[in-house]
Amino acid sequence: MEQIAVVTGANRGIGLEISARLADLGFTVIFTARDEAKGQKAMSSLLKSGRKLVFFKLDVTNQTDGKRLFQFLEKEYGRVDVLFNNAAILADENESAVSIDLSIVSKTFETNVIGAFMVAQSVIPLMKKIITGGS
Ligand SMILES: NC(=O)c1ccc[n+]([C@@H]2O[C@H](COP(=O)([O-])OP(=O)(O)OC[C@H]3O[C@@H](n4cnc5c(N)ncnc54)[C@H](OP(=O)(O)O)[C@@H]3O)[C@@H](O)[C@H]2O)c1
Repeated sequence: MEQIAVVTGANRGIGLEISARLADLGFTVIFTARDEAKGQKAMSSLLKSGRKLVFFKLDVTNQTDGKRLFQFLEKEYGRVDVLFNNAAILADENESAVSIDLSIVSKTFETNVIGAFMVAQSVIPLMKKIITGGS
């Protein structure tokens, strides 16, 4: 049975590496990135015989992208087995919490907290289908 793994922020760093590992384990990897050109290029670097990766454009701060992700996964696969909720931003490590611009704090929460939550909401209904058999 085809098993589906969704990786966010897959175009570099940990997301890229985990995508390769999941593909080697036999998962079909839904390789998501907010920048289509960067994402497609990064995914191409992983493609080799025996690996299955499918690109999907996803900005985790964009709720329309989240709805599109759910619709795509439901239509094409009807299930999700693994979510690697990886996409995040990191404010400059040298910034002090006392003086950091609050717009940076807000953007960080929007991406790292609300974004991760939004992706979970888009994917968990398709995980529950596996557990409950569709109910
Ligand atoms: N590296 C570490 O030592 C470490 C330690 C603890 C935890 N972590 C966590 O592990 C995760 C990955 O770390 P990393 O070092 O691989 O980070 P990274 O190299 O900075 O990569 C972050 C990824 O997230 C993507 N991203 C950022 N904002 C996004 C958005 N709005 N929508 C979609 N994608 C977005 C980036 O895309 P772009 O290329 O388009 O910017 C990039 O692909 C993060 O959650 C990080 O907090 C890392």
